[in-house]
Amino acid sequence: MPADPSAPPTSAVEPPEPPAVTSARDAALAALGHAGTGPLRIGGVSAADLAARFGTPLYAHDAGALRDRVQAVRKAFGDRVGVLLALKANPLRALLEVALSAGAAGAEVASAGEVLVAATAANDGPMIQFAGPGKSTLDLETALRHGARLHLESEGEYERLVALLRTGGVGSERRVEVAIRVNPGVAQDGSRLRMADASSRFGIDRERVAALARRIDADGVCELVGLHVYGGSQSFEAAAWVATARDLCDLAAELDAARATPLRSLNFGGGFGWPVYGRDPSFDLESAGTGLLEVLDRARRAGAPDRTCYVELGRYLLAGGGVFLSRVVDLKDSGGRRHAVLDGGMHQFGAAAGLGAVMRRSFAIVAAADPLDEGAAKLSLGGPLCTPADRFATEVPMPDLQVGDLVAVLNAGAYGLTFSPARFLGHPSPAEVLVDADGARLVRRRGEPADVLADQLP
Ligand SMILES: Cc1ncc(COP(=O)(O)O)c(C=O)c1O
Repeated sequence: MPADPSAPPTSAVEPPEPPAVTSARDAALAALGHAGTGPLRIGGVSAADLAARFGTPLYAHDAGALRDRVQAVRKAFGDRVGVLLALKANPLRALLEVALSAGAAGAEVASAGEVLVAATAANDGPMIQFAGPGKSTLDLETALRHGARLHLESEGEYERLVALLRTGGVGSERRVEVAIRVNPGVAQDGSRLRMADASSRFGIDRERVAALARRIDADGVCELVGLHVYGGSQSFEAAAWVATARDLCDLAAELDAARATPLRSLNFGGGFGWPVYGRDPSFDLESAGTGLLEVLDRARRAGAPDRTCYVELGRYLLAGGGVFLSRVVDLKDSGGRRHAVLDGGMHQFGAAAGLGAVMRRSFAIVAAADPLDEGAAKLSLGGPLCTPADRFATEVPMPDLQVGDLVAVLNAGAYGLTFSPARFLGHPSPAEVLVDADGARLVRRRGEPADVLADQLP
């Protein structure tokens, strides 16, 4: 990144304060408004009532918790920065509608299916931004049909888009607005899942962006309106995230100096960390907000035009408000350990069984009857799949559970069903409910055993 004498000190000069640490269980219970005593409630309705009414396994989402997070982000960043909900974290349209009603500007999507979710949400047309490598013709056409802004991930993708537009299909009657996703060329400190680096499958290397911008301008088929960067997910260092944003502003200024029309939109990514394991760091939202606004002020002082700015967040907005409920089907003792077999497992909540994690660690898992009761028992909990991978926790403190008792995996609102090997063994998919002030409503129906045959041909 170019040196910037007016920038605040970076980690090279002065090590940043280590992020504060919080308990994943307590972060979730705070998001759900748990009073510190009594059973687990989601949106004011007890987990036991939800399980009795809708069955298990069940995802329950607290609309109020999501609204609180959207509003906290809006407060931290102010009106100059729009908040996009990253649907990859959870493609439930009902959740997007809650986020939009709380002031989110739109959705960040990564497939034709997610475009459809966003495009059919009940509101007056949210901003839809489509990033993701390897977009197929179907992805491109669906995005064009629904007015989603394409974030170009490679020169090849740009060429495929231009070829498609030149065939005269949807979108060819206008200059299609596009943005370029930039790979800044350095990893973002503090991100557990790094998506920018010296070499990356995501985005176009910073030093090649100007050449692509010139091509887009010269071809005249698309209109380059913005830049996008996404440093990584589960990012816990606000200062490192701000540094990535500052670099994107600098690149925008460089492009503006060489082009006839200034860029009007910048997406600074997000990936703000949310505690999910044991005692995780907590993301300093206020520092990120203050830091980004300073970056924007500095750009304005240097002559940058007012641009529409965005952050895109999934986990930070959604995780804490979601709970995965399942019942104990069986209890057994083996080799001196007690095992609880649940009716929900890794096929429904892969991340909680370690999917995608470099190191296996447990999500916060509690007894729904009293989430603060750690009890005296040590229990290993897993689902009904015949693989050792189907395990949520090994020897964790738990009250003395009985068959039929309800167990809750917390921080389940993001990367739940959508990030799970849902087809393995052909179990039906779990139902999902949204709980709001007017009660609980089913927002995804429960699957059934015959679903396993639904798309098979004789
Ligand atoms: C481009 C992009 N945007 C947004 C997100 C959402 O990240 P998170 O859920 O960590 O906020 C991701 C996650 O991988 C992503 O790749």
